[in-house]
Amino acid sequence: MTSDEITDLLTEAYVDELETVMNYLTNAIVLDGIHAEEVKESLEDDIQEELDHARMLGERLKQLDESPPGSEGFEASQHSLQPPEDTTDVQSVIEGVLEAEDDAIETYRSLHEAASEANDPVTEDVAVSILSDEEAHHTEFRGFLKEFPQD
Ligand SMILES: [Fe+2]
Ligand SMILES: [Fe+2]
Repeated sequence: MTSDEITDLLTEAYVDELETVMNYLTNAIVLDGIHAEEVKESLEDDIQEELDHARMLGERLKQLDESPPGSEGFEASQHSLQPPEDTTDVQSVIEGVLEAEDDAIETYRSLHEAASEANDPVTEDVAVSILSDEEAHHTEFRGFLKEFPQD
């Protein structure tokens, strides 16, 4: 019914969501300047949604008789979402968010595909509902980026 690929993807996604919570929270705290306020507010809203995603993924792992990992299983990967040295560099945070959301979209597409192949409609449903939130996050931050000159 299920497959190792599904539990691997659920676990990877769970860890990524928690890393995203940490980096969105940090950036929502540290950014300064006139461009920062909207972005900080939006990050604050998304923190709650990303945490809900982690919870859904962890609960699905539990239903599959697996456990989500604790912090010792954690390997950081979101280099582009580290808080900028210049706290007014809102653009770099927006670009980091877009990269994180792109990665998330790719992961949930893979999860959906693996679940569909394994005939696991419940995991498919989890993947689709999270995927739709990530696409909305991506669209919002793509809009923020339009405020900045592109080269
Ligand atoms: Fe998420
Ligand atoms: Fe997201």
